[in-house]
Amino acid sequence: MNKATRKTVIAGNWKMNMTPDAASAFMKELAPMVAGKDECDIVLCVPAVDIAAAVEAAKGTNIKIGAQNVHFKASGAYTGELSAEMLTAAGVKYVVIGHSERRQYFGETDQTVNLRTLAAVNAGLTAIVCVGETLEQRELGYTETLLKFQTKMALTNVTKDQLKNIIVAYEPVWAIGTGVTATADQADEGNGYVRAAIAEMFGADVAETVTVQYGGSMNDANAAELLSKVNVDGGLIGGASLKTDKFTAIVDAAQ
Ligand code: 13P
Repeated sequence: MNKATRKTVIAGNWKMNMTPDAASAFMKELAPMVAGKDECDIVLCVPAVDIAAAVEAAKGTNIKIGAQNVHFKASGAYTGELSAEMLTAAGVKYVVIGHSERRQYFGETDQTVNLRTLAAVNAGLTAIVCVGETLEQRELGYTETLLKFQTKMALTNVTKDQLKNIIVAYEPVWAIGTGVTATADQADEGNGYVRAAIAEMFGADVAETVTVQYGGSMNDANAAELLSKVNVDGGLIGGASLKTDKFTAIVDAAQ
């Protein structure tokens, strides 16, 4: 395994936090703190109403802006949804897809995750596709089966070429927002299952090139150990991405 073949990506997921004004202020504070730290890509996935402010504030910086969801249709009667074209036109480069909160609260299924992923990559967005097991599934011994199934479902009909625009984030549901972080070994193992699923679909060489993040209570104190693992190519960070100092410390851990 060769980590050098993959890009490390540190992405914040603000979830339902921050107004446009707060987003601008945050970006202005963060930009000088992470300037020149180019050993990883730096992304902030912001609420839809913050996209314009965040994209404006990110101009001339090394921070890229992402959205938190995308619809799979190009346009139409889908109240409350945003198309991939709308996002790219607004300056968005990344989009989180299939977050466990969307699976849990908003009826997201493996099939809709797949459709959204295809819509994103077809539009040139980089999809951050989330997979992860619940505590019950882990305790029943289904972690590997579940992670491989979710990964394969999400990537169905994605081409080898489009895989360049795919990041998979392993986010154990029991570690999200709970303060319970997976151990570095658990994160490495989970990410390894994701990579194995990609290898089964696309071949081992291709799988070695795909960035697989870990997410779930990653913070300034545990990031370095998590990121030291061979299969952990970055992080998807919730709570700690809302504080510039904590987020910067995670970026530093990836340098
Ligand atoms: P926390 O970092 O708050 O646990 O959230 C992780 C997450 O869900 C990122 O998408």
